[in-house]
Amino acid sequence: MTHIRKAVFPVAGMGTRFLPATKSIPKEMLPLVDRPLIQYAVDEARAAGIEEFIFVTAAGKGALEDYFDTAAALEHSLQAKGKAEALATLERTRMPEGALSFVRQNKALGLGHAIRVAQHLVGNEPFAVLLPDDVIRGQAGALGQMVAAHAKTGGHMVATMDVPRAMTAQYGVLDVAREDGPLAYARGLVEKPRADIAPSTLAIIGRYILEPSIFAKLAHLGPGAGGELQLTDAINAEVDTAGVTGYRFDGERFDCGSVQGFVQATAAFALDRPDLQQGFSQFLDQRRAPLHQAA
Ligand code: UTP
Repeated sequence: MTHIRKAVFPVAGMGTRFLPATKSIPKEMLPLVDRPLIQYAVDEARAAGIEEFIFVTAAGKGALEDYFDTAAALEHSLQAKGKAEALATLERTRMPEGALSFVRQNKALGLGHAIRVAQHLVGNEPFAVLLPDDVIRGQAGALGQMVAAHAKTGGHMVATMDVPRAMTAQYGVLDVAREDGPLAYARGLVEKPRADIAPSTLAIIGRYILEPSIFAKLAHLGPGAGGELQLTDAINAEVDTAGVTGYRFDGERFDCGSVQGFVQATAAFALDRPDLQQGFSQFLDQRRAPLHQAA
């Protein structure tokens, strides 16, 4: 059994769906309630036992690097004012020294390319990939569930979720050979297939555990769907060698790369918060009442 120690966080995308905010703020720094998106992904990785955090960044993502730095002046001022609660909140974001590294993707050529540029930091061991846009709400972290499953299956593992057939063109989709509980053994993967030719409705969500053999495939990858270097295509090239398993995670996924998904996630996480729950749900009820009357 291999301990999964490293995780790659591709955060080099341009986030055009969140313009104008993303003109000067990295998408991953947009807050869901009061924590930036990236914090949810890092917390999920920490809970899964990840020790090394590799960020694939790009120009304009400086705020993300700063976020993980110690805010010495701020801490000093909070200490002087005796603001223990605020200090404890900061403490929960503190990462062990040397645990974070940043590598630049000079051109946004696609997710496959983003993973490729992290090769020298990953080295020759299985590793996790988390796309911070996919926020998964649930009791047990999705990556932790996958790490436990991967200890038995090995090979490449992708998080999966059932989607309506009309939506397959927005996802990578599995061609399933056999299912066993939450596991779906794949005979192929297709990126963004049209609904009428999609091999299934089991879609890939932004959590992966990859074997280092993926780098050889990424090195020779040509442009795929949308002209981008697609990670799905590289994984597909490994179905007959390393093997690929889909894992239906237990949890609710929000597509925070889209405005609709982000707004829904904000509401769901606010309703989970004991300090916000009552006031926020009363507000929603009041807002919805006229809509119900009109319907
Ligand atoms: P998206 O497809 O959501 O692209 O990337 P995007 O640029 O972030 O957002 P839009 O579509 O312009 O609104 C999915 C994930 O892959 C990363 C993104 O940062 C995001 O986490 N990514 C994508 C890269 O790191 N590099 C790329 O070249 C492309």
